[in-house]
Amino acid sequence: VRTIKRIDHIAIVVDDLEGALRFWRDALGLELDRVQDVPGQSSQVAFLPAGDSEIELVRPTAEDSGVALYLQKRGPGMHHLCLEVEEIEAVLADLKARGIRLINESPQSGAGGRQYAFIHPESACGVLVELYQLPQMSKGIAGT
Ligand code: CO
Repeated sequence: VRTIKRIDHIAIVVDDLEGALRFWRDALGLELDRVQDVPGQSSQVAFLPAGDSEIELVRPTAEDSGVALYLQKRGPGMHHLCLEVEEIEAVLADLKARGIRLINESPQSGAGGRQYAFIHPESACGVLVELYQLPQMSKGIAGT
């Protein structure tokens, strides 16, 4: 069963959002869609659509958040990539059965009813991978 749909976003940790935008927006020419405060993750996020996906520039707003610790330890850089899936529970169960190390063994609830879970970098060639599934509000309406 193939349930991976696309890359939803790639998250990059930055310490200076304006500086990061000078590259991603001004030099590279990506459009800045919005900047959002994400208090739950103690961060501010700039979203830059790139085709069917987005680049997310994540700047920590608290010293002790996970993202801030990551930044202190490794400096700015790629934090995770996120794949949109159709059946997150089935994908997680399959990965678990294959011995893949999961950070979240069951889906977590995020903004707007989306469900997400992270795969440990140890099982993914050193890359933190996020899986997410959109809320199934259109279920039952065929073809939409
Ligand atoms: Co993400």
